Amino acid sequence: MSLLIKNGLIVTSTSSTIGDVYVEDGTIQAIGRSLAMAADETVDAAGKYILPGAIDPHTHLAMPFMGTHSTDDYETGTIAAACGGVTSLIDFAMQFKGESIKECLVRKQGWADGKVAIDYSQHPGIVDPTPEVIAEVENAIHEYGTPSFKVFMVYDFRVDDATMIKMLEETKKHGGLVQVHAENAYVIQHLNEVFEKEGRLDIYHHALSRPNLAEEEAIFRACKMVELTGSSLYVVHLSTMEGLRQIQAARMKGLNVYAETCPQYLLLTDDTYKKPDFEGAKYVMSPPLRTVESNEALWDGINSGDVMTLATDHCPFFFNGIKDKFGKDDYRKIPNGAPGIETLMPLMHSEGVKKGRISLEKMVDVLSTATARMFGMDNKGSITVGKDADIVVFNPDQEFTVSIDKLHMNVDYTPFEGYELTGMPYKVYSRGKLVAQWAGDKVEFTGEPGWGRFVKRSPFKPF
Ligand code: URP
Ligand code: ZN
Ligand code: ZN
Repeated sequence: MSLLIKNGLIVTSTSSTIGDVYVEDGTIQAIGRSLAMAADETVDAAGKYILPGAIDPHTHLAMPFMGTHSTDDYETGTIAAACGGVTSLIDFAMQFKGESIKECLVRKQGWADGKVAIDYSQHPGIVDPTPEVIAEVENAIHEYGTPSFKVFMVYDFRVDDATMIKMLEETKKHGGLVQVHAENAYVIQHLNEVFEKEGRLDIYHHALSRPNLAEEEAIFRACKMVELTGSSLYVVHLSTMEGLRQIQAARMKGLNVYAETCPQYLLLTDDTYKKPDFEGAKYVMSPPLRTVESNEALWDGINSGDVMTLATDHCPFFFNGIKDKFGKDDYRKIPNGAPGIETLMPLMHSEGVKKGRISLEKMVDVLSTATARMFGMDNKGSITVGKDADIVVFNPDQEFTVSIDKLHMNVDYTPFEGYELTGMPYKVYSRGKLVAQWAGDKVEFTGEPGWGRFVKRSPFKPF
């Protein structure tokens, strides 16, 4: 199967040029002007962009959590991803108590096999850090192809600081990367108790119970552990200006600290928790939404290079029947998480590039190129000869009003309902196969569940 995409604006993380891209057997074979190869399919991309597919490095598919489980599985989640221009994702494989890393990965790969529509990988989520599990980190990096490990400083499955230090040491020895959900659990616990005593359990108190300083302090502490060990750390879903300042201070000292943020922390604020009819529950996630000062600081952080990747933290729960059932009288019981995988690229283009907040090249970097580098996806992340043909032909002028009826995620709402976007995927290819395309008023899925493959990733190299 061969494919020739002609006359599009080929965008890399550093430049943009009009040209053609030729694909054979799932790989980019040639890039140039006026390529004349005969191909099974030729696409006229004049007026459109030729982008590397986005890589979402932070998803929770079918994850048991807070008495329920996230509602996109590996099939629905990856179909939605494809329709949004995401051609790879890295999901969290959270250990069950007593499981080895290998057992955990195999269990979750069993849920994915025959279902995934795009390529995927996994980050082991360490919740039972026995000595055997810590010793298995080396194999996870070099044998299993999963060199990044998630630890949580919050929730009841959090690890303590001693474990974090051990994980940092072990990953440094073998070429791994620790990822951290950084919030101070004791600050949150204290405020939860205060609000409970005072009977203040409405949704807005979700935000008040997790103040900016809870993230700031946890990031500060985690950075000190990096200073101690000389290891590397990746902060997931950075949400605050104060947390960003800690990351910048650490980076100024030469520490290998990296950060990811998500569209919700760039675009939405904690006012949403005050919406009537319990609608605020739709935005209950951790960390919570913040204020416009943090939104703006995070855009600046992307441009300064301190925030290197964009992710979604895709963790959908139905509003009707799940979010509203669990937490009607108590914000602490509302399952934390929101959908986002299908809107990642269109939002970043429309709200980021079109509104002049980031360049097109920066968008490609944070959605694809830097992500591939951070997580060792050597064949992904850029329009380069020899890489997998994970390509989005993107129509920068296509208008689209975000509406859950026109999206594919297995959930009944999107936090971005009503957003008027400019720019949508026109055709999406996974290793040269058309997996989604624009169909008049929305993107339709054209791929097949089971097409996606598990990607073995390379060890982490600090940069
Ligand atoms: O609220 C969130 N983010 N839910 C998913 C779990 C996590 O903390 O990433
Ligand atoms: Zn988290
Ligand atoms: Zn998450």
